[in-house]
Amino acid sequence: MSTQSPHLIRKKVIAGNWKMNKTAAEGAALTREIVEAVGRETLVDTVLCPPFTALESVARALEGQAIKLGAQNMHPEKSGAFTGEISAEMLRTLYVTHVILGHSERRQYCGETDGFINRKVLAALASELRPILCVGETLAEREAGRTLDVVRTQTEAALAGVKPEQITTVIIAYEPVWAIGTGKVATTAQAQEVHAFIRALLTRLHGAALSQKVRILYGGSMKPANAPELLAQPDIDGGLIGGASLEARSFVDLVKAAMAAV
Ligand code: PGA
Repeated sequence: MSTQSPHLIRKKVIAGNWKMNKTAAEGAALTREIVEAVGRETLVDTVLCPPFTALESVARALEGQAIKLGAQNMHPEKSGAFTGEISAEMLRTLYVTHVILGHSERRQYCGETDGFINRKVLAALASELRPILCVGETLAEREAGRTLDVVRTQTEAALAGVKPEQITTVIIAYEPVWAIGTGKVATTAQAQEVHAFIRALLTRLHGAALSQKVRILYGGSMKPANAPELLAQPDIDGGLIGGASLEARSFVDLVKAAMAAV
């Protein structure tokens, strides 16, 4: 294993998950504000994940910048009779490079299973999209002492069949469901424990050299005020940001916090 600081091996990632917010015009306006502040910043990987309907306008606002474009979901099939769905190829034509998969809101409201999420992960990788794979326990699961079990099951199932040469393309987001949109952030110790557990799991699956290169993000009420402490943890490599990504100032402050933590 390398003796280099983890902060040097893994470039930090700050990804904004806009969820079902912002029209195409609003998304472009927000993007322009973010671009003005950190558009060409390359010390941190910054990703904006607008709804499908704003991908094109945001892509246009990102032209020539270092910030990347992500989608919030995709279907594993290439094309066909899947009303209301979007394929990896369709995303690629809009300059999308990242895709959030397995978000807890989709697991909860859309019935997404680990098996279906696994198909999406493999399809995204086959189309050269970077999956941002979300895993995390509910409050009931944490209180029952099942956090690590749940995270292990979700991670192993979603990554089944991912080849060693693909694993560093995957970004994992640990998002405790009870911390999402609730203002209840996990303590740094709670978050670091699960992040280290996920990295140990990746080491078992793919070896230490590769697992040291995988970025594991924290998500769940991350804000400029709590970010520095979270980002200072050895296995927390960035954030998947919901609420605080909807305003330029808080999102830019999070990118700057990640730059300071490098
Ligand atoms: P939050 O959402 O930052 O609003 O808690 C995070 C997420 O769901 O990705």
